[in-house]
Amino acid sequence: MTDLLLSVKNLRVELATHREVVHAVEDVSFDLGAGQTLGIVGESGCGKSMLLRAILGLLPRGGRVTGGQVIFQGTDLLSLNNQQRRDVRGRSIGMIFQEPMTALNPVMHVGDQIAEGPIAHLGYTKKAGRQRAVELMQQVGIPDARRRFRAYPSELSGGMRQRVMIAIALACEPQLLLCDEPTTALDVTIQDQILKLLLHLQESTGVSMIFVTHDLAVVSQMCQSLAVMYAAELVEFGLVASVLPDPTHPYTLGLLRAVPDFDKVKAMLDPIPGIPPSLVDPPEGCRFRPRCEFAQEDCATGDFPLQFTEEGRASSCIHQVLCRNAAHADPVIGSRAAH
Ligand SMILES: Nc1ncnc2c1ncn2[C@@H]1O[C@H](COP(=O)(O)OP(=O)(O)OP(=O)(O)O)[C@@H](O)[C@H]1O
Ligand SMILES: [Mg+2]
Repeated sequence: MTDLLLSVKNLRVELATHREVVHAVEDVSFDLGAGQTLGIVGESGCGKSMLLRAILGLLPRGGRVTGGQVIFQGTDLLSLNNQQRRDVRGRSIGMIFQEPMTALNPVMHVGDQIAEGPIAHLGYTKKAGRQRAVELMQQVGIPDARRRFRAYPSELSGGMRQRVMIAIALACEPQLLLCDEPTTALDVTIQDQILKLLLHLQESTGVSMIFVTHDLAVVSQMCQSLAVMYAAELVEFGLVASVLPDPTHPYTLGLLRAVPDFDKVKAMLDPIPGIPPSLVDPPEGCRFRPRCEFAQEDCATGDFPLQFTEEGRASSCIHQVLCRNAAHADPVIGSRAAH
């Protein structure tokens, strides 16, 4: 068992707009070991970004944590004051956003943006900070780093901008890197390069990662464990090697069925019918019930917290045997179990 780096306990996040309150994260708990990569998957709007932002302490206007703990290296980050939070953010936890253009400063040289962290948090002089920025730019594969130091974000391609974001996030050698769909805005070839870069950096620095993605193929390539979110809640958690061939929540099974079978040319995609519920007034009972092929009467009322199985896996489904049987019978998912 690796050392525990992060323990999220019963985390709740609300977002208040002038009209309504969105329950974006509800009662989410999980652990992350040092050097491990956790993937988080789930449909659009299920709370993945708000979960990452709550861990980092960077919720949007109107957002607040209404319960729970975020214990990072033994300290509850939610108990820190703003200055202490900023220090953790600058030094120990880095974040890579989906769209680098919105996260970068458009009127500042990219090299200076990379140098900011080491100067502010590690006591580097301006000159040493710049030197460190050039090294980081080389490390993340930006060619001709010395010249590009003075580029503005708009002068770089999407892939290069994402490399700059990665360099900023890694500049203070954080213990944890939060990646929010870091490759979604990029074309497939560049996506692949960025994923390989992150994998390489993870292996060479030992940084732990939480990796939000829509893509289960990316999860199987990058992550040791997997958390599946549905309508603000975690519905399944476990090792990737256990969950992908043997899902214990019907929502995970639905996501897996929607992944193309790359071995067959005419693979049929089987999307999950229906849409997730509103998070303003979520329904009673299991939130996935209206879309679930295995739903029974007893799914309609009560709470559905994550239940741990003997192997240390967790699912919120009370009829997980039905789900597992269907997964084993599925020609594609069942065959993955054999590998
Ligand atoms: N700034 C905001 N103000 C109010 N509600 C918001 C805000 N940002 C997100 N939400 C709502 O919070 C919920 C969770 O959103 P979140 O962005 O975490 O979803 P997500 O899982 O990251 O989705 P995606 O895959 O599309 O990025 C959604 O219902 C969304 O509509
Ligand atoms: Mg998001």
